[in-house]
Amino acid sequence: MTAVTDEKLDKQARKILRDNDRGGYTVPTSGLYPYQWNWDSMFSAWGIATFDVRRAWFEITTLLYGQWDNGMIPHIIFHKRAEGYFPGPDVWAVERVPHTSGISQPPVAATMIRSIYESDKKAGRVHMELIYGRLVSWHRWWMKNRVQDGMVAITHPWESGRDNAVDWDSAMQAVDGSNVGDYTRRDTSHVNPEMRPKKEDYDRYLALVQFSRDNGWNEKYIAEHAAFRVADVGMTFILLRACRDLLQIAADLDHDTPEIEGWIETLEAGVANHWNPEGYYDSVNLRTGEFTGSLSSGSFLCWYAGVDPPEMMSHLKAILAEVRYGVPSNDPRAETFNPLRYWRGPVWGMMNALIAIGLKDQGHTLTAERLRKDTRELIEDHGFYEYWSPVDGTPAGGRNFSWTAAIWLTWAGPHAKGGF
Ligand code: GLC
Repeated sequence: MTAVTDEKLDKQARKILRDNDRGGYTVPTSGLYPYQWNWDSMFSAWGIATFDVRRAWFEITTLLYGQWDNGMIPHIIFHKRAEGYFPGPDVWAVERVPHTSGISQPPVAATMIRSIYESDKKAGRVHMELIYGRLVSWHRWWMKNRVQDGMVAITHPWESGRDNAVDWDSAMQAVDGSNVGDYTRRDTSHVNPEMRPKKEDYDRYLALVQFSRDNGWNEKYIAEHAAFRVADVGMTFILLRACRDLLQIAADLDHDTPEIEGWIETLEAGVANHWNPEGYYDSVNLRTGEFTGSLSSGSFLCWYAGVDPPEMMSHLKAILAEVRYGVPSNDPRAETFNPLRYWRGPVWGMMNALIAIGLKDQGHTLTAERLRKDTRELIEDHGFYEYWSPVDGTPAGGRNFSWTAAIWLTWAGPHAKGGF
């Protein structure tokens, strides 16, 4: 690739982030996802900070508008009504302003915010002081409501951010999707249905939303009675990493740290419970106590959380040897592997960024570099897509995707710093 082309891509990435700005918040992509999504928004802020740090802080502020009184930061904030998305605010029926969904999403916020803050402390100090308490109360919400045996439980596959990953297959069998009533999906009118979850998955997704909604989003009740509850290995690693970053922020601001240190200890101990005796980190179906038997991209966030067992490196190398572009979201040797269906095979740029940053932190620089190169080529050759086939790079899902643009500017592109 010539320098000119890369300059052009830098420009294009900034343009995508600006075009997806809806006035203080960045949509993941126009059409398919017309609201503010939690972790997408934090990736966007990280990318925006490379050219407009003040706008990045504004992004963080608008996400926090959606925070509930109990500390939870929802997975979608419906700031203003938009067409073309289902399930919208009426389905979630959350009585607050702005309207939001009723579940959360992977807490990458503290990690991204730490990086944005450290990139320009002068611009960030006042914002950092103001939002610190909100971050702490979000983490406290996770620890209080969701941590079981040191592992982080999700109440809905959408909470994981890896919607139809194989990790949820066995647990979803217990969810009855036959009574959800009629509804019209909107995702399949934006992109090829072959690249999206199937109808039977969607029925169950909705059944879970209806169950929690009809029980007033009561965490205690849901914990005891919902059909679905899975300790998500990716979520445990992401929260552990986020707590480590929150601790650094706390120290910088001269705040007390023992509570956060306690969270880190709990989660570090919980990581051991994710170890499937077959020899890899795995999710656990908390309703049955069984491992879900999935070596998916969530498992490879171990390095990002500061955990480095040699077995995981062997698995990653074996998987990378199978595909042209790593890291596939599902093991390419598994029967369930599908190179184009969302989280059941495709490679996602933002996951690669997190995995590779972790690898680099742990000294695995060559493998980290391979992921960066693969991601760079996918973007150079095909554009800023939502995801791609790991087999041949076929682009899939939404185009002009915000987090893909963001990771180009921060990590994958030739002018990127290459990490936090
Ligand atoms: C899908 C993805 C999720 C993402 C959202 C918006 O639901 O699985 O991770 O946050 O789209 O991009």
